[in-house]
Order: sequence, then C-alpha cells, then structure tokens
Amino acid sequence: MLTIAIAKGRMQDEALALLARAGVGVSDEALRSRRLALLDESGAYRFVFVKPADVPVYVEHGIADCGVVGRDVLLESEADLLQPLDLRIAACRIVVAARDGVKLKEMGALRVATKYPHVTEAHFGARGIPVEIIELSGSVELAPVLGLSDCIVDLVETGRTLADNGLVVVEVITSSSGRLVINRASYQLKSAPVAQLVDAISGVLNESER
Ligand code: PRP
Repeated sequence: MLTIAIAKGRMQDEALALLARAGVGVSDEALRSRRLALLDESGAYRFVFVKPADVPVYVEHGIADCGVVGRDVLLESEADLLQPLDLRIAACRIVVAARDGVKLKEMGALRVATKYPHVTEAHFGARGIPVEIIELSGSVELAPVLGLSDCIVDLVETGRTLADNGLVVVEVITSSSGRLVINRASYQLKSAPVAQLVDAISGVLNESER
C-alpha cells in the first residue's frame, strides 16, 4: 500500500480531483467524514490529510511515501524529497505587497511580515536590502494595514485578499503550484507502485495539455 500525504486547505480539492482522474479515488462518504486517514476505493492507497507545512515532514520520515503540496511550502522546507511532477494545480505567486502608495524603495531597512521567512530572506538578501522579518502564521495582509510591518511576502492567487485590504503587488518573487513529492527510500523500495502512480498522474496531465 502507498500512503499519500495531502496538504489540507487551498489545494486539497484539486489534488483529490486530479488523483481521482488518475484512478486513485476516495468515496464521497469517506470524504464527508472527519477522518484524517482514509483508504482509496481500491484499498491500494491511503490518504493522510495534514497541514501543508507538515507534508514534507511526513514524506521525509517515510510515514507517507508521497505527498501533494505547494512549491511555496517546499521552498521553506529543508526536507530532502524527490519532486518528479508539477501538478499544475492551485497556481499562485509569491509576491512582495504593500499598502497602495507606500514607496518601499525610499525606506531603509524594511519590516516584512510573512509565513515565508526563508524565501523572504533570500529575496531581500540577494538585493542587499536589510530586513526585519516578522513571522506570522496567517492573515498576513493585516500586518501592513495595522502598522506591524512595511510590507508582506505572501501568496496571491486571485488577488482578492490584497485588494480587499488595500494592498498592491510591489514585486513578484516566484510562482508556485502543487507538486508531487516522493520519499527517497519509497522510490527505491516501492518502485513499481510509485512508478505506476507517477505514470497515471503524468497521463492525466498530458491529457489536460492536449
Ligand atoms: C492565502 C494567502 C492569502 C490568500 C490569497 O491564504 O496567504 O491570504 O490565500 O488568495 P487570493 O489572492 O485568492 O485572495 P490562505 O487561504 O492559505 O490562509 P492563511 O490566511 O491562513 O494564510
């Protein structure tokens, strides 16, 4: 049996829909339950639903053989994982954003609120801009509105959260989308079922391309 860790939240529905198209489906009844570990309809796969940042942890430790998680999370994680496929789901961007009209370039050191301290440090570090990173775990857009920070580094998908809070994109840092990740040992020891899963998902992705 293969265990697949799925990031709960923004990409969960798209991830399950993609996997179902690849022949790994969960019944509606199971999905309606609050169980955090479920078997697929064939009994060959087990899904575990965890917080996005915990997907690399479960997969690196081999508790899950595979995982579906955003590139944004992987950029922050130091886990050593194989990343064979861009699943092209939950596409979004990691951006620097600030209150409309604020001129960050005219400021000295910046206070940056974010859930992405590594990405933030690398981005501003490469430009030689000194930053104080204020790490938050959610609702990051509030920080510049309430004066906790000068700007934020955060995910933007539709842009609605920024707009509704009077913020604008200052700079796009990088793009993100859902990725398939695989534990290195599982890739060797369970090579047949892992290859079968990767092939099935690749087939669905190729089909969508046409
Ligand atoms: C993310 C991100 C933004 C929002 C962007 O938050 O941090 O707040 O989605 O989406 P939009 O551009 O479509 O408005 P998430 O929903 O992951 O929750 P969080 O506030 O707990 O970080």
